[in-house]
Order: sequence, then C-alpha cells, then structure tokens
Amino acid sequence: MSTGVETHVETAAQAASPSSQAILRYTRFAILLHWIIAAMILAQIAAGFWIADALQSTEKTMRLAAYEQAQIHKSLGLTILALSVLRLAWRLVNPAPPLPEGMSLLERAGAHASHIGFYVLMIAMPLSGWLMVSHSATFSSVPTVYFGLFEVPHLPLPPVLGAEAKASFGGLSHQAHGWLAISALVLLALHVGAALKHHYVDRDGVLARMTPGVRPRGDAGDVAKVPYREAVGGLRWALALALAVGLGGAAYGISQYAANTTSVDVAVETTSSGPEDAMSGMAQAWGVVETESVISFETENAGDPVVGQFTSWKALIEFDADDLAVSEVVVIVDIPSISTGDLIYDGSLVEPDWFNAAAFPKGTFVAKEFVAGGSDGEYVAKGSLTLRGVEKPFDLPFSLSIDGDRAEMSSQVMIDRSDFGIGVKADPDGMWVPMPVQLKVKVVALRAN
Ligand code: HEM
Ligand code: HEM
Repeated sequence: MSTGVETHVETAAQAASPSSQAILRYTRFAILLHWIIAAMILAQIAAGFWIADALQSTEKTMRLAAYEQAQIHKSLGLTILALSVLRLAWRLVNPAPPLPEGMSLLERAGAHASHIGFYVLMIAMPLSGWLMVSHSATFSSVPTVYFGLFEVPHLPLPPVLGAEAKASFGGLSHQAHGWLAISALVLLALHVGAALKHHYVDRDGVLARMTPGVRPRGDAGDVAKVPYREAVGGLRWALALALAVGLGGAAYGISQYAANTTSVDVAVETTSSGPEDAMSGMAQAWGVVETESVISFETENAGDPVVGQFTSWKALIEFDADDLAVSEVVVIVDIPSISTGDLIYDGSLVEPDWFNAAAFPKGTFVAKEFVAGGSDGEYVAKGSLTLRGVEKPFDLPFSLSIDGDRAEMSSQVMIDRSDFGIGVKADPDGMWVPMPVQLKVKVVALRAN
C-alpha cells in the first residue's frame, strides 16, 4: 500500500528520469498568471512614465487626465500585487518543471536568478508605489480609490519611526518606484532574449511550456499533458500557512488603521472648545431651515469644475436689522461632511494637507459686528473664520430679505485657501486648485420667538 506522498514522489522520480523525455509544462494556472501579470506590468510601466510626465505638464487638461489615470494605475498596481503574491504562493507549492538537460551551469544559474529577480520585482514595484502614495508629501493627500469602489488605506509604517523618517521614506519609495521599473525592463530584455534563444537556437521547448499554442521546435518531443505539480505533494500546507499569515497581517493592518483614525477623532472631539463654548448663553433668535439652506463652494481641479458643499453644519443666529449692535452669528461646519459628489476629491479634501479633518473637524465663523451696506438689505458681517486651526479676520458681505417671520440671506465671497494652509504643500502654486475659492452661502431662517 502506498501513501499519497509516496505516489507524488514516485511521479517526481518518473518525471525526472531520463527515460521520460517529455517536456513538462507549467500548470495552466501558472501560465495564465504569467501572461496576465506580464501584460499588466508592461502596461503599468508605460502608463507610469506617462503619468509622471503629464502630472508636471503646464496644460491643465493633461494634468487632469494624469490625475484620473493615476487612480487606474494605482488600482491595477494593487491588483498586480495581489496576483503576484498568489502566484508566488502557488509557485512555492508547485515547483517549475526541471530545466532542459542540455543547459550549462551558468545558464541554469542565470535562469533561476532572473526568475527570482522577477518575483522580487513583481512584489517590490507595487509595494514601493503603495508606500510612495502613503508617505510622500505630494501624493499622500490623494486617496487611493480602488477602481472607484472603495478607499484603500495608506500603508502604515511602524510608529517608532518619527515624522521626519516617514517623510523621507515617501521620497525614497518614490525614487525606488521608478528605478525598480527600469530594472524590470532590463531584466525583461534578458528574459525575452533567453526565451527566444531557447526556442530558435536550442529548440528545447522552453518557450512552448510557458505559452499556450506555441509548439516546441526541433525534437523537443511532445509537450506532456501532465502538469509538474502532480509530482509534488504535501506542500499545500505551505500555501495554507502563507494565506493565513497574509490574511492575518492584512486584518491586523486594517484594524490598526481603523484604531488610529478613531482615536484621533475622539481626542479632537473631546478637546475642541472655543466657538461652541462661546455660543452657550446666546439667545437663538432665528432657527435655520436646513432643507432650504446650503453652504457650498466652487473651484476647479486642473480646469475641471468642482462644486461641493458641507452637508452638516449648524448656525446660531441672533440678528436684528434695527439693532445691529446686539446681533451675533456663529456658524460651525463639520469639515468631514464635505461633499463634491466625487469620492476621490472628497477623500483628498479631508486629508492632512487639505482640511486635515481628523485634527480639525470643525470650521467656524463667528461675527459680532454687523454694518449696513450701501443699499437696502445689504450688510457685512465682520468676524473671524477658523479653518484647519488657523483663525483669520473675515468679512462676509450678504443680502438679507425678511418677510414676516421668514428671513432669507445669501452671500458670495472669495476665500484664499492659502490663508488657512489648505493644500499649500500638495499644490503650493495653485497649479491644480486655484488659491481663491468661491464660497456661496444661502440660509433660510425662521424667527424663533
Ligand atoms: C507592478 C506595478 C507597478 C508598476 C510596474 C509601476 C510603474 C510605474 C512607473 C514606471 C512610473 C513612472 C516612474 C517615474 O517616472 O518616477 C510610475 C509612477 C507612479 N506610480 Fe506606479 N507602478 C506600479 C504600481 C503602482 C502602485 C501599486 C501605486 C500606488 C498604489 C503606484 C503609484 C504611482 C504613482 C502615484 C506614480 C506617479 C509618480 C510621479 O508622478 O512621479 N504605482 N509607476
Ligand atoms: C514583465 C513581463 C514578464 C515577467 C514579470 C515574467 C516573469 C517570469 C517569471 C517569474 C518566470 C518564472 C516562472 C516560474 O518558474 O515560476 C517566467 C518564466 C518564463 N517566461 Fe516570463 N515574464 C515576463 C515576460 C515574458 C515574455 C514577454 C516572454 C516571451 C518572450 C516570457 C517567457 C517566459 C518563458 C518561456 C518562461 C519559462 C521559463 C522556464 O521554463 O524556465 N516572459 N517569466
């Protein structure tokens, strides 16, 4: 009686025996992954260089196209990472068919080294891209949205690394990303050259065993139907272990990420003070009709119009047109409620370099001085605007019409985002998003008493 393992070992012995001259193929799965990954990597390298170039273009439309392509590049790159890990795990369990006997020691060493090199690159290229977008000053404020479906978290670095080390990590991985791709091109030239030499010069069927539809040349014999993986067994445990470690690691990473984000939110929530405290004790003369009121903004990203609004905010309004001296308004905006209808912009805008919503979840406008404008129903609310933790004097001109117990106010004013440090690192020259941003406010309120 023989065990399963003995059977596999027997098959291996037969397969390796000189009497069986059949050239064994890679498994169908290995062939499929080889060609899918190869095609994707080539597309990625071409797209990557194009994107890097177009992001620097002086033409806004080019920059916008590059910005959109970068999301596809990142999504495809992460797919390559997942497929490559799968392929490597598969490969560890299913060894490659033995190399043809006629190959010299040097050729064998070269073949092994280049294959190992490719496996390293297939993982290191996407990983360096992921690290770059997670930690470089230029890219970390743009979220990675996987084919528009969900946001992929930034790769965390060990907390022992200080902010400075993390920042230099971003720059390093950026450089590594380009150089790894160039190394892949060099290796590819050698790899293709070797494959063609096997096919046309050695005629040993090496190209055929990795390529569906390609017949071995010369007397390489039949391409055996039996995949080599049948010659090994038992190692499936290694695959199960690799998968368990991978999944465990991913779950740990995600839980760490979630824990970090919530703890920052909670800390900020409980320590925030100021305007909200200032509001207590204010009489609420007017109540906002939320369904008819809106705080919106208009800007552009590389020439593409971006219109958004804050969907969650509250205002306490005490206003008497006949007694401006006692009038007072406090508006508190929930920054994370920013919404442009575009997942990518929304994700970017709350990032540290833009509104830094985790550290500064509230934007406030407090006005205690009102002056009547030139014409009827025109006023200016003079006060201070606080965004991203920066407080600046701010005048809000508005027009107001009061009809019985109902008041309607509207205002349009420009805000210079650089005054508040919004996006000054990611886009310091307003090359993507101009510095002046149009703010539009419409408030409908009912007299409360
Ligand atoms: C196998 C997968 C990948 C390949 C072959 C690849 C290749 C490239 C190449 C050749 C460049 C141009 C490099 C330069 O000129 O500096 C590039 C740029 C870029 N890659 Fe990848 N990439 C891959 C995966 C990723 C992933 C997974 C991400 C992020 C999650 C990413 C993000 C980026 C970004 C943001 C740029 C633009 C960099 C710049 O403007 O300088 N890439 N990529
Ligand atoms: C970026 C593109 C490519 C990558 C990353 C890549 C990667 C690899 C790797 C890692 C292996 C080893 C497979 C293993 O033992 O598990 C392999 C084998 C092979 N590749 Fe590629 N490859 C690429 C493109 C190509 C192209 C364009 C050709 C055809 C001209 C080709 C032909 C082959 C052949 C014939 C083998 C089998 C070698 C053998 O039997 O020992 N590859 N490739």
